[in-house]
Amino acid sequence: MALLLLGWACNSPTQQTTDTASESQTTAKAATDFQIAGDSVANAAQKAFVGALMKAINEQGTAGAVSFCNVHALPIADSLSQHYNCTIQRISDHYRNPADMPDATDSIVIADYQAQKTAGTVLSARLVEQENQVIYYKPIMVGMPTCLQCHGDPKNDIDPATLAAIRGKYPADLATGYQHGDLRGVWKIAFRK
Ligand code: HEC
Repeated sequence: MALLLLGWACNSPTQQTTDTASESQTTAKAATDFQIAGDSVANAAQKAFVGALMKAINEQGTAGAVSFCNVHALPIADSLSQHYNCTIQRISDHYRNPADMPDATDSIVIADYQAQKTAGTVLSARLVEQENQVIYYKPIMVGMPTCLQCHGDPKNDIDPATLAAIRGKYPADLATGYQHGDLRGVWKIAFRK
């Protein structure tokens, strides 16, 4: 499988290997466009998702909010995907919803992010170019203590009612045992070329 991993910088080595100057410019411009669009989608979706989750926790408690950590429950996800002609997913190697299971490309990207994190590198978004689509990935970190109420240690962080709600809805759940600062997964925004 041929993967083209583009960094954020326009002068990334990958792009400098392009044969002609004009091709190089086209690639750089397209990559920049996809980066900007990917950022817009991921940031808007993340903001809406955290907002909906916090509101649900305040109104219904954590166990009642278990249905609100689902990106497809967000009306904004539909309008973003239509506006940008893209699909929006969250993917994790320790997924709770089997629909968020990584494919081969996702697994490579997630493993690479984990390796970068272990090496102390600050993680940033990246593009993977395929034949028919450009995929934008952005790391999702366990960045708030609230995340641990449903993704932390089942004994110490997750209350019994919440754990029961999670196990009832997701019998094969893999998404517990996380600590603050861990890589939880990635936003995956796929644009048709
Ligand atoms: C109220 C419980 C709850 C809280 C709090 C919560 N989550 Fe989740 N999370 C879930 C549930 C339930 C799913 C499965 C959603 C679905 O069916 O799509 C999930 C799924 C996810 C996924 C998709 C991958 C997967 O495992 O299926 C990511 C990424 C994620 N959560 C990150 C976070 C982050 C980051 C936070 C903190 C900001 C957070 N969650 C807080 C319950 C929660």
